[in-house]
Amino acid sequence: MAKKSEAAAANAVVEEVVERPVEEAKERESKKKKITSVEQLPGVGESTLAKLKDAGYDTLETIAYSMPSELEEVAGLGEGTAVKIINAARDALEMGYETGDIVLERRIQIGKVSTGSKELDALIGGGVETQAITEAFGKFGSGKTQLGFQMCVNAQLPREQGGLGGEVLFVDSENTFRPERIAQMAQAKGLDPDEVLKKIHIARSYNSDHQMLLIDRADEVVKKHNIGLVIVDSLTSAFRSDYVGRATLADRQQKLNKHLHALQRLADMYNLAVYVTNQVMDRPDILFGDPTTPIGGNVLAHQSTYRLYLRRSKEDRRIAKLVDSPNLPDGECVFRVTPAGLADVE
Ligand code: GTP
Ligand code: MG
Repeated sequence: MAKKSEAAAANAVVEEVVERPVEEAKERESKKKKITSVEQLPGVGESTLAKLKDAGYDTLETIAYSMPSELEEVAGLGEGTAVKIINAARDALEMGYETGDIVLERRIQIGKVSTGSKELDALIGGGVETQAITEAFGKFGSGKTQLGFQMCVNAQLPREQGGLGGEVLFVDSENTFRPERIAQMAQAKGLDPDEVLKKIHIARSYNSDHQMLLIDRADEVVKKHNIGLVIVDSLTSAFRSDYVGRATLADRQQKLNKHLHALQRLADMYNLAVYVTNQVMDRPDILFGDPTTPIGGNVLAHQSTYRLYLRRSKEDRRIAKLVDSPNLPDGECVFRVTPAGLADVE
């Protein structure tokens, strides 16, 4: 036994003096010294660093939350290197197992944005949650965008009043952002419309790639403006028009999946709420019941934490149905879209 460990010690000394490639030296160094930036990661040379930064992977967090295939694509890395870089970033951020009390701590920080309707808030467990993706799907005119506008106002309110005390990021893919309507909703709550509009940061997106890029590069604006709510209206329409036909379906779903991961990452990292809208498509194969299903298929079904199906009822009434929620009972409620904004029936 003693002999064996002596031999091991001798080997270790030999190893120490053998000249090693820079990579490994960096790796050993990184174990001693805490890594605090991307350039300190083992495997990240000057050109890789430039490519990563160019693609928006400029923080340990963005790298730690990414998949090897992403880094392979954006920085031309080999799979092994990509895995190594991601693991090192995860180690640096201590992203391994965590204990239950830490998870509880994070859950305690969850905030909820009121929708303006108490009934609707109750249906979704108290409001639209941070650290989660909430999706509304439904036909045109069902109120998806109106709900988004209302939350643009409400998210700015302090927590005690059903808000998050934060600003809003609005990705507008359908050119349906209407500041006048938001001003009307703000005024109805006794707020200064100009102040409210100043805290909404809008980006018009022109296609699905652009839409993804806006979210992939949102970190800076999120930090700078204390963003509490991110809205993507519509999440899926650009994907639907950019990927037409069966042959492109797998491609589309893969991109959509990546986009949703990026949104969930923002939600988790910055404790913010994500609200996305989705159209429905007609399903001619369904003869009975409601022949409409949300587009995005399983990818969206799995990744939105809360899914709301909205439909028109008489006059200004809308019916909201909560579907497939992991921790809340399915149910329905009725709310109204009034000139002052979303409200309860009575
Ligand atoms: P698509 O984006 O076309 O799929 O529909 P959507 O679900 O986003 O519909 P949206 O939220 O835009 O709802 C439109 C409906 O909201 C209109 O038909 C009106 O009933 C109502 N609405 C829109 N603007 C106003 C407004 O300024 N005042 C009031 N009282 N109601 C409005
Ligand atoms: Mg809309």
